[in-house]
Amino acid sequence: MAAPEAPHSPRVDLGSLEFWGRPAEERDASFAELRRDSPLSRHEPPEDILGLADQELHRYWAIVRHEDIRRISRDPQTFCSGEGTQFGDAPPEILEASQSFLAMDAPRHTKLRGLVSAAFTPRQVARIEEGIRLNAKRIVEEAAPTGGGDFVEMVARRLPLVTISDMIGVPEPDRERIVAAADMLVSVADPEVFGERQPLELLGEALWTLTQFATELAAHREQRPGEDLMTALVQAEVDGERLTHAEIAAFFVLLSVAGNDTTRHTTSHAMRALTVNPHQRAILIDDLEARLPAAVEEFVRWASPVLTFRRTVTREVELHGEQLVPGERVVLFYHSGNRDERAFEEPWRFDVTREPNRHLGFGGGGPHYCLGASLARTQLRSIFYELLRVIPDIEAEPPEMLRSAFIHGVKRMQVSFTARG
Ligand code: HEM
Repeated sequence: MAAPEAPHSPRVDLGSLEFWGRPAEERDASFAELRRDSPLSRHEPPEDILGLADQELHRYWAIVRHEDIRRISRDPQTFCSGEGTQFGDAPPEILEASQSFLAMDAPRHTKLRGLVSAAFTPRQVARIEEGIRLNAKRIVEEAAPTGGGDFVEMVARRLPLVTISDMIGVPEPDRERIVAAADMLVSVADPEVFGERQPLELLGEALWTLTQFATELAAHREQRPGEDLMTALVQAEVDGERLTHAEIAAFFVLLSVAGNDTTRHTTSHAMRALTVNPHQRAILIDDLEARLPAAVEEFVRWASPVLTFRRTVTREVELHGEQLVPGERVVLFYHSGNRDERAFEEPWRFDVTREPNRHLGFGGGGPHYCLGASLARTQLRSIFYELLRVIPDIEAEPPEMLRSAFIHGVKRMQVSFTARG
C-alpha cells in the first residue's frame, strides 16, 4: 500500500515551469485542490532556470487562499519584503539592481516610496487623465482602419508604454528599446524568448541596458531639470542624502517593469474575456461610461497579471496549525486568491458588474500595495472606452501565453473587427 501523502507536501509541483506553461484554468484545478485541502503546503525550491549552481535554493510555503494573502500582505512585521520578493532565486546583484523599494521594509521603504508616491495619487492621476484619454483615442483610431492584427502590438502595449515613459521622462526615440529590455526581465523563462541563449545572460544584458540608460538620463536631468519623475529623483534627499545613481537606476527598472507589463496584459486578457462572454460585453456597452469602473476591477481580477510575490518570515507565527519559523519563505499566489470560492461567488464567472469585488490583483493591501493602481485603472478605463465605442465588434482569438511563474502574460493575440475610418 502506498504511503499516505503528507498533508503539507501535495503532489502538485508549483515550482515547475511546465506547470506555469499550462492554461490558467488547468492550473487553477490544482490551486482549487490546495485551497480546499491544503491551504498551507510546503514545496521544494522552484525550478532554477538561471543555473544558480553555487547558490542555495529555498523551499517555500504556498499561500493560496484570499484571506491568507491579505493577512500576510498586511503584516510586514512578521512577513518582510527585505529578504526578497521574487518567487524564484536570482543572483543578488541582479536583485539589487532591479527591485528598489519593492524589496525593502520600513523605514527605508516608506521613504523611498514616498519620493514618487505623490505622482501616483488618484488626484495627480486625475490631472494627467486627459492626456491618457487622448493617447487611448489615438491608439484606437490608428488601429481602426486595419480591421485586425496582433492586439498586443497594435493596442495593449502602447498605452502603458507612452504613459509611463511620459511620467518618467524617457525621450521618444529610446522608448521601444527600454520597454523591450523591461519585458525581457519578466519573460526570460519562456523558451521562445531565450531560444539558444542562456537566460541569465539575457537578464544581465537587459538590466545593463536599463541601468546605463537610467544613469545617463539621471545625469542629464541633473544638468537640465524637467517636470518628470527622473528630475524628482535626482533632486530628492533621503535622510539628508541624495540617492546614488545605482539607487535611481533600480528605481527606474522597478517603475519600467511595473508600469508596462501589468497593464498591457490586463488589457489583453480583458479583450479575450469580452470576446468569449458576449453577454457581458453587451451589458458593458449598454452603459459604457457608468459601468467601466466596476468592469475594470473585474478585468484586473480576471487577468491577475502578477501571479506571485514572496515574503520571508521574521518571527515565529502559526498558520493553519503549522509553526512557521524565521527565514522561511511564503509565496503569495494572487491568481489563486482571485479565484477563491470563499471570497468570490462563482469565481470563474467573468462578471463586469461584480459587486463587491475585493480582488487581490493589486496586492493584498499593506505597505507594498500597488503604487500604480490608480494609474492602471485610468488607463484601462480609457482604452476600453475607446475600443468599445469605436470598434465594438472587435473579437479576439485565443492568446499565445508567456511561460512564467511571475507574470500572467500574453505574447500575441489576433483580433479582427470591421475596418473603420
Ligand atoms: C493592472 C495593472 C497592475 C497590476 C495588476 C499591478 C499589481 C501589483 C502588485 C500585485 C504589486 C505588489 C503588491 C504587494 O506586494 O502587496 C504591485 C506593486 C507595485 N506596482 Fe503595480 N500593478 C499594476 C500597474 C502598475 C503601474 C501602472 C505602475 C506604475 C509605475 C505600478 C507600480 C508599482 C510599484 C512601484 C509597486 C511596488 C510598490 C511597493 O513595493 O511599495 N503598478 N503592483
